[in-house]
Amino acid sequence: MHDDESLSPSRVKKELHDLRVQAEGSLKKASSKNDIESIRVQYLGKKGNLSNILKLLGSFPADKRREIGKVANEARDFIENLIEAGFNNLQNEVRNKILDEKIDVTLPGRMPALGHRHPLNLISQQILEVLTSLGFDLVQGPEIEHDFYNFEALNIPQDHPAREMQDTFYVNKDIVLRTQTSPVQIRTMLSLKETPIRIVSMGRVFRRDQDITHSPIFHQIEGLFVDKHVTFADLKGTLTVFIERIFSKKACIRMRPSYFPFTEPSAEVDVSCFACDGAGCRLCKETGFIEILGAGMVDPEVFKAANLDPEKVSGFAFGIGVERVAMLKYGISDIRHFYDNDLRFLSQF
Ligand code: DAH
Repeated sequence: MHDDESLSPSRVKKELHDLRVQAEGSLKKASSKNDIESIRVQYLGKKGNLSNILKLLGSFPADKRREIGKVANEARDFIENLIEAGFNNLQNEVRNKILDEKIDVTLPGRMPALGHRHPLNLISQQILEVLTSLGFDLVQGPEIEHDFYNFEALNIPQDHPAREMQDTFYVNKDIVLRTQTSPVQIRTMLSLKETPIRIVSMGRVFRRDQDITHSPIFHQIEGLFVDKHVTFADLKGTLTVFIERIFSKKACIRMRPSYFPFTEPSAEVDVSCFACDGAGCRLCKETGFIEILGAGMVDPEVFKAANLDPEKVSGFAFGIGVERVAMLKYGISDIRHFYDNDLRFLSQF
């Protein structure tokens, strides 16, 4: 029940005015959507403060009802507007906070940094791909090798200069760090026993040698083909295709007589200079050609050491220095770049 005063129109008008002031005060303190929503329910809801006041209107005469009704509508509009503004302010605050973070959400994401293939890896993969496509099977050999496979069976006798201490790392009198991949030839022939043998091997080799074009650890690729009636023409044909695929269709080879203990005849193989197409430049020292690998027909002494009959089989072999090919192909002047792990160098490949 209301007392007389509470029923008077001026009292109701006062209450409506107070309601506006209170609602405004509460809304100022609201800091979340939930706060604002409960203020809305408290003041404007079905059972809210405004409804409670309006319920009293019924007891007034019509003209007073109209008068107070107008004030009540104004109070409702006023509070409604405050609530709407409150919601908007909150939204703006959130937006401003996001903008303040200074993240430009329209920028593309950061790509994860991808690694690069090592230039030696690129070259050896290319070489191996060409040779395996020509029918050579990939085989492996040990880096710590018996003197027998590294030297003796390859027709490199005890007094050969290549065996001197300055070239070879000896583990003991009979064991060396292999100085070349050629011992894989002996191991393969001894284990396969039967022809045809067509293998390629790649790996690290070790020599006591160090300057801007020589490293104590470097990489070689070895090829061997043994069968009945293998000729020097087969060697030349294979190397021609190989060089064309690694360098360019225009590249041609030149074979110069040379000497390796394990081949007879032996050849050093040059490729026409890919910088000047054979015209002569600084890279090829004005000769038009660049030495690229060693090759030859397998020496009968090597077949004997590998238990094959040189009267029945013949074969060719070749050996390539991976660093040398990579330096020539990419124009790298110092071999140490390959091993320094400097990203400024490595990320160029
Ligand atoms: N092993 C030789 C070296 O390290 C390279 C070589 C030359 C390998 C002629 C061969 C070959 O198979 O036939 O210098």
